[in-house]
Amino acid sequence: MKPQAICSAFERHYGITPAGVWSAPGRFNLVGEHTDYNGGFCLPVPLDRRTFVAARRRSDDRVRLTSLEIAGDADVDLREVTAAVPGGWGSYAAGTVWAFRQAGHRVSGVDILVGSDLLIGAGLSSSAALECSVAAAVSDLFDLDLLSDDAHRAELATICQTAENVIALAPTGGVDQTSALRGRQGHALLIDFLDGTLRPVPYRPHAAGVEVLIIDTGTRHSLASGHFGNRHAECDRIAGLLGVDCLRRIGVDDLSAAMQALPDAILARRLRHVVTENARAVAMADALEQGDWHAVGEGMTRAHESMRDDLEVSVPEIDLAVDTALAAGAWGARLVGGGFGGCVLAVVLREGVPAVTDAVRAAFAQAGYGRPHSFTARAGDPARRDA
Ligand code: GLA
Repeated sequence: MKPQAICSAFERHYGITPAGVWSAPGRFNLVGEHTDYNGGFCLPVPLDRRTFVAARRRSDDRVRLTSLEIAGDADVDLREVTAAVPGGWGSYAAGTVWAFRQAGHRVSGVDILVGSDLLIGAGLSSSAALECSVAAAVSDLFDLDLLSDDAHRAELATICQTAENVIALAPTGGVDQTSALRGRQGHALLIDFLDGTLRPVPYRPHAAGVEVLIIDTGTRHSLASGHFGNRHAECDRIAGLLGVDCLRRIGVDDLSAAMQALPDAILARRLRHVVTENARAVAMADALEQGDWHAVGEGMTRAHESMRDDLEVSVPEIDLAVDTALAAGAWGARLVGGGFGGCVLAVVLREGVPAVTDAVRAAFAQAGYGRPHSFTARAGDPARRDA
């Protein structure tokens, strides 16, 4: 998608020139799922697919929204934005403008046109890409200068997460917004959600002759739909039962005693996912640093087993794609994102890519599932102004 095309589409729709075009990337999380809201570790990479917004500030409080991909234009007064208004995808965009005001910034209305080459609801962080592209635009349009350095970008990430939690009603953590705004080109980012530190780790699959494939199973989720919130609520309940402020306080050495202290096996499994996932994220950052892609792949497969069996957020299409990719020679594969559908990440030797994609396609045809679609996960730039 070209910024110029977004600009022209804005002009056609609103009959006026936008003040600029901004964009933010999706992300693929190498490991560390459902750990962010538990004060844990995540290891995302900004994706080279992005969401763009052309925008122009208004002197009144109206927020007008339109998208090239999704129906449901919105026209809402900023003072009337709530969890119910405007609803749909507009809540992510209008909610972001609203959250600037909540954070004490003097902003008024905006006209926005959105265009994206990201899959929506597929575990690649389309929601955060929308919030963060709007946030980048609002920051510049109102001369807030919040894209200028990492500390200000951290503030933008908080604003975007507030929009998602309070207006879009998705009780997510901050990995997606942190990756989109504070990620580094060519790097994965080991994020520690307990102390807020970031460790950029070079992401160089090509140097090792491997590709990271994204296999879109065609299944979709909504993080505001309840399943995601259930997992979050279970984790909060476990923390309460164990008397800790977040599950990060439980280390691998404390795990079996903590599991035994819980009243049921489901909660014990949820805890085991979070604790082992944190350990995997730290170990995988080290493996990535050393270019040990066998270890990265191995960690991804273990992470998938944990999401499937302990956290129970996988679906049959995802499991079939993972199992088939592994049987066809992938070094590792797993569900990416919040779960309940979406995409699989697989580490594959470059020359083995056709065998893996063909095998997954054949397995899906045999199971009567829709045709899966695969592409290479390439690292992209964090949120920026494009034009
Ligand atoms: C979604 C949420 C994130 C995170 C992941 C799971 O992407 O937006 O905050 O919880 O799921 O790791």
